[in-house]
Amino acid sequence: MTASNTLLISKLQAVSGLIFSLYLTAHLLNHIIALAGRTVYDKYYAAVSRVYHHPYVEIPLILVVPSFHMILGIKQAISRKGTPNTLTRVFRYCGYGLVLIYFGHVFYTRGQTIFYGKDQGFESVSYTLSNPLLKHGFFVYYALLAAAGIFHMVVGVSKALQILAIPQMRPILKVVREDKVILTTILVATTAGVLGLLAYAGVFYKINWVGYEHQRQHYERILNSYLHLVGKHIQLE
Ligand code: HEM
Ligand code: HEM
Repeated sequence: MTASNTLLISKLQAVSGLIFSLYLTAHLLNHIIALAGRTVYDKYYAAVSRVYHHPYVEIPLILVVPSFHMILGIKQAISRKGTPNTLTRVFRYCGYGLVLIYFGHVFYTRGQTIFYGKDQGFESVSYTLSNPLLKHGFFVYYALLAAAGIFHMVVGVSKALQILAIPQMRPILKVVREDKVILTTILVATTAGVLGLLAYAGVFYKINWVGYEHQRQHYERILNSYLHLVGKHIQLE
């Protein structure tokens, strides 16, 4: 790859990452807002999801931009030489982890609306974090997903701003380059994310479970549609 090609790819990757950050920030904030209780959560979710579930927004923002970003990322990863520092190494591992999980997460969550007509909101995450059989696995899965997303995004935003190096942003660039600022932001955001998951699990306030039976039947049906392939069947509480 020539030097000008590499620079172009880095710039496109920076821009696509920054665009996707708009969605990811809104989405992760939603999980943190679970701490503020159901009423605030529902209002926030209704407001933001009205924007990003619109097909003209969802298809470019959720499918096209991240796919483009991932393809360029894999291309860069294959052609790159040299030994990165620890922060960059962890940033890249988080990127590869997200590549593996991203479409599974999107199709699983949005697929429930598309195939089962059931919108995903507070109660859906809350059920997976309350059911005795599912809660530990889902807690680890959500926490790792949030941690990887936050780590890659925070380091990514810092790198993207340096790559694009807009002269008017010079004072901000100096601050967001500092490891201390990056690591503190990651730590605060990840802790808030984990506390948000505990809120979904009913640790900070009682969940009003009008929809529990509905969620139970729904997850039982989904899980059994997979388990059916290996001749098994389970009953959820
Ligand atoms: C689903 C979400 C995402 C996935 C799967 C993903 C994946 C990747 C991968 C695989 C790489 C290549 C790593 C390497 O160079 O070896 C990468 C690089 C990069 N990502 Fe992401 N990314 C995501 C979100 C973001 C976000 C939200 C940002 C925020 C700006 C971002 C910014 C960047 C930047 C700037 C690079 C290039 C860094 C460099 O050239 O050194 N990414 N990403
Ligand atoms: C705390 C961890 C997380 C939880 C509990 C979670 C949960 C959910 C839920 C319930 C939905 C469906 C509702 C909606 O559309 O907003 C969803 C959708 C989605 N999530 Fe996550 N998520 C987490 C982290 C992440 C991360 C780290 C990423 C990206 C790197 C991500 C990307 C997405 C995308 C792209 C959608 C589909 C949105 C759409 O098509 O409109 N999520 N997630």
